[in-house]
Amino acid sequence: MGASNLIATINLFLLFFSSSVFSSEDHHHHHKFDNIYAKEILSAAQKEKDWLVSVRREIHEHPELAFEEHNTSALLRMELDNLGIPYTYPVAKTGIVAQIGSGSRPIVVLRADMDALPLQELVEWEHKSKIDGRMHGCGHDAHTTMLLGAAKLLNQRKDKLKGTVRLIFQPAEEGARGASEVIKDGALEDAEAIFGFHIDHTTLTGAIASSPGPILAAGCVFEVKIVGVGGHAALPHKSVDPMLATSFAILAVQQLVSREVDPLHSQVVSITFVKGGTALNVIPAYVEFGGTLRSLTTDGLYHLRKRLKEVIEGQVSVHRCNAYVDFKEKYYTPYPAVVNDKDLHLHVERVGQLLLGPDNVHAAEKVMAGEDFAFYQEIIPGAYYSIGIRNEKVGSVHSPHSPFFFLDEDVLPIGAAMHTAVAEVYLNEHTV
Ligand SMILES: *[C@@H]1O[C@H](CO)[C@@H](O)[C@H](O)[C@H]1NC(C)=O
Ligand SMILES: [Zn+2]
Ligand SMILES: [Zn+2]
Repeated sequence: MGASNLIATINLFLLFFSSSVFSSEDHHHHHKFDNIYAKEILSAAQKEKDWLVSVRREIHEHPELAFEEHNTSALLRMELDNLGIPYTYPVAKTGIVAQIGSGSRPIVVLRADMDALPLQELVEWEHKSKIDGRMHGCGHDAHTTMLLGAAKLLNQRKDKLKGTVRLIFQPAEEGARGASEVIKDGALEDAEAIFGFHIDHTTLTGAIASSPGPILAAGCVFEVKIVGVGGHAALPHKSVDPMLATSFAILAVQQLVSREVDPLHSQVVSITFVKGGTALNVIPAYVEFGGTLRSLTTDGLYHLRKRLKEVIEGQVSVHRCNAYVDFKEKYYTPYPAVVNDKDLHLHVERVGQLLLGPDNVHAAEKVMAGEDFAFYQEIIPGAYYSIGIRNEKVGSVHSPHSPFFFLDEDVLPIGAAMHTAVAEVYLNEHTV
């Protein structure tokens, strides 16, 4: 190939390449999702800041546990009524599903959780929890408020929406799988994508973090009863000692992760309680223990469960005991892993860059905690991301579930704006 031929080929390539770039820019300008749009959404959200702060403080002062979010739900319904936004209630007991837009497809879903924790708030401030032993220590008061804020903003723009935004105010995220109850009540019907976020004390206020693929773990709990034969501690040969059998079993399950799992695949086995015996001179008849299993894939979790049971049963049989392993499925269905759809993650990233600036969109770290948002992602593609609340000046640097957890309320309009733009831009780019 001669030099001139090569240059001609490059020119042709550049021509083709630049024309495709132009057409995609054209596409975005056509829908006006540019800096002007970003400013419009952000300033509309900032105008609602006082209202958002007051709603959030009201919820924060009156934390309610899983499936008991009666007052929280009533407050939200009153606000939705004031705004003239239609909703379905009750969904999964205390939940609310509101809908804004054309009423037809595409339907995109936004989700927030409403429940608090059985935790004593130790932060001394004006709007501290008024209920002893209960605290919005995971920021779900903020999640709920930001989704309400998005409802208001989207309602202001309802004639511009090219489809429908469905907003799920979900009960019982903390260990009670409220999401699967909401799904049973039909909240995902005809919907094609779902977005949600969690506040994050490691990311600065004004920034978000998102990653594709698995980001939060599948998890389950287990309880084990090891049964031997009790007797006098001075005559071990007349007993079958469940204490020793339990000790071997607990040590043996530690090898499951180190010896049976691909080192590049993350799993956790944690034993969190052991109960057995009442006297210093009696070998007890049985010992109980339990804990939690985690895996970054749902399949991995099921394999780990199977092996946990086999190893415990095998170990205690060496010591002449019997093991009864219970995964408590009646109360605790295993949580699947939170796995982000690649395209929806890219969508969040793009909207985040538009709204918050390119420097304020980070990659999210994987964490072995669970989140029942995963149940939605088993049904439709979804993206779950983090929204920053870290601000040294206000002291919002504590982990969720800490009694010192504190929110930077500046996040409230930012979260409302993110929800709004994520949904509106999605509808514009997925018109049927
Ligand atoms: C819910 O509201 C009722 C009526 O105002 C009140 O008596 C009750 O204490 C509230 N419960 C919580 C958890 O705030
Ligand atoms: Zn939590
Ligand atoms: Zn949470």
